[in-house]
Amino acid sequence: MIAQTRMLESAWCEGEVRVVPLHRRPDLVEACADLVNSEWQRSRGARIHGLQKSCQDFPVCLVLIQGPGNGEQLLGHARLSRVVGRSSSLFVESVVVSKAQRGKGYGRVLMEETERYARARGFQRLCLTTHDKQHFYAHLGYVLSQPVQNAGAMTTFVPMEVLQKFSRLPKRRARSYL
Ligand SMILES: CC(C)(COP(=O)(O)OP(=O)(O)OC[C@H]1O[C@@H](n2cnc3c(N)ncnc32)[C@H](O)[C@@H]1OP(=O)(O)O)[C@@H](O)C(=O)NCCC(=O)NCCS
Repeated sequence: MIAQTRMLESAWCEGEVRVVPLHRRPDLVEACADLVNSEWQRSRGARIHGLQKSCQDFPVCLVLIQGPGNGEQLLGHARLSRVVGRSSSLFVESVVVSKAQRGKGYGRVLMEETERYARARGFQRLCLTTHDKQHFYAHLGYVLSQPVQNAGAMTTFVPMEVLQKFSRLPKRRARSYL
């Protein structure tokens, strides 16, 4: 597992392809569950339940949509959560582009639009972990970083101060490789 991070910079726009918070498009929850499950298998009910936790106060599930030009199409998904003890950072996970649409630039669009959304909400840094996509993220400007603790959906029922009290981040700085 590798921790990576990226400072958020300039704005970016891509025609008809856009990201939308899933809680603003509940009609897409089932299609999104199938998309995420096509990569990471889980019961459909549990997946839908997790996606329905998307809310303005985090976690926020973002969906990448194309259209309505040629009919609306769900292209990708990413989830943003708060980071314990780091109020200007968000944790991005479950980044996925539909299998049929990979290699066409949508992964870049998904990440750049996710960054744009985070920036517009006042955040300055995105953090993530990855087993095997470090080259993809490095290509997009992410660098190795200290480990951080993803608050996930915990912030919906546990205050951040309490999470921080019980967090066990390493005291020494991790070595940086990039
Ligand atoms: C990772 C993933 C989101 C990338 O989406 P994608 O649509 O195929 O990626 P793109 O076509 O937008 O590629 C964007 C850029 O990254 C590069 N890239 C893509 N995959 C790469 C990889 N594995 N290593 C290095 N570079 C990579 C592309 O060459 C492209 O470069 P360019 O913009 O300079 O031309 C997609 O492959 C996916 O959904 N994988 C399965 C789920 C997954 O593993 N998610 C990551 C969890 S940590």
